Amino acid sequence: MKILGIESSCDDTSISIVDNDKNIIANETLSQNQIHKDYKGVVPELAARNHVLYIDKILKLILKQNQIRITDIDLIAATVGPGLIGGLLVGLTFAKTLSQVNAIPFIGVNHLEGHALTIRLTNEVEYPFLLLLVSGGHSNFYFISNVNSYKFLGGTLDDALGEAFDKVANILELGFPGGPQLELLAQAGDYKKISLPKPLINSKNLDMSFSGLKTAVLNNSKKGKNDISNSDLAASFQKSVAEVLCKKISLAIDISNKESFNFKNVVVSGGVAANNYLRKKIINTVKSKGKSIFFPPPNLCTDNGAMIAWAGYELYRAGLKSKLNMKAKPRWPLENVRERL
Ligand code: KG4
Ligand code: ZN
Repeated sequence: MKILGIESSCDDTSISIVDNDKNIIANETLSQNQIHKDYKGVVPELAARNHVLYIDKILKLILKQNQIRITDIDLIAATVGPGLIGGLLVGLTFAKTLSQVNAIPFIGVNHLEGHALTIRLTNEVEYPFLLLLVSGGHSNFYFISNVNSYKFLGGTLDDALGEAFDKVANILELGFPGGPQLELLAQAGDYKKISLPKPLINSKNLDMSFSGLKTAVLNNSKKGKNDISNSDLAASFQKSVAEVLCKKISLAIDISNKESFNFKNVVVSGGVAANNYLRKKIINTVKSKGKSIFFPPPNLCTDNGAMIAWAGYELYRAGLKSKLNMKAKPRWPLENVRERL
């Protein structure tokens, strides 16, 4: 089977062709970073307009490059939510039209489900597994029992982690999106120069909070102390984030064990999972708890069409298909994923 995956929930227009043997035949992403950087964040209307401008061109390009005709495609999967409504409507309408005109089955995919299942495209990871999803919009723990069966365990009460990275990068004038630049800058810094808070690190549940940590960076940057550089602040921010994440992952494993969730593997996905510093710390923590740890490759941690194609394939294989009247869902928690209409 060849599956077409269409992702347009935020500022990346991404289309991919994946097959049922886990080959990524094509994965083309058009980033809109240059368009949004002057605004220091994604402007929804501009994002939607640019999806409209390029979505058909990306499809034509990948079909041509791989000498595939649209009628060779067996399943069309598109992100239905959560995300920015304008972008979702563009991708969804495009997918439904292709499905209707070419008589190809259509399946609507939850964006978080795409991030959750990517690891099964790139690695041999069996269900069930414990997932930490850390992206620009979400920072949550889930227990993934099977395709279409996801349990929310806890997560951030305010900013998503990627959002905190982007805002701190903005304070340190690193440009947008700031996650990768912040990681780079932190390499040159000394976290010992300044100690930043580790919000909710000792709470006995999986609640997290990153907005106070971001404000602490702002307050310290305003103090303008000569002996503390931006790289020291970046290093200390990452250190606090790593300590909180590791403590919470450890707790999530304990909670899951206590509730008799029987699992071997821990998966971390979403844009922030591309961060190498965090990866190293998390690997050590998870191994010390006797579990195996998996991350998708960095280019599949951030938004991409391949994750949507793969999740679509898993759903279809499980007997699911969507109707063409399926609506875009700007809010769609992963635990409500069964409400697929
Ligand atoms: O998953 P994603 O592409 O989009 C959402 O679903 O939100 O995640 C994007 C987020 C951005 O906030 C970006 O700054 C962050 O992931 N990110 C990183 C890194 N690469 C991307 N954060 C920290 N370190 C990185 N290397
Ligand atoms: Zn995402």
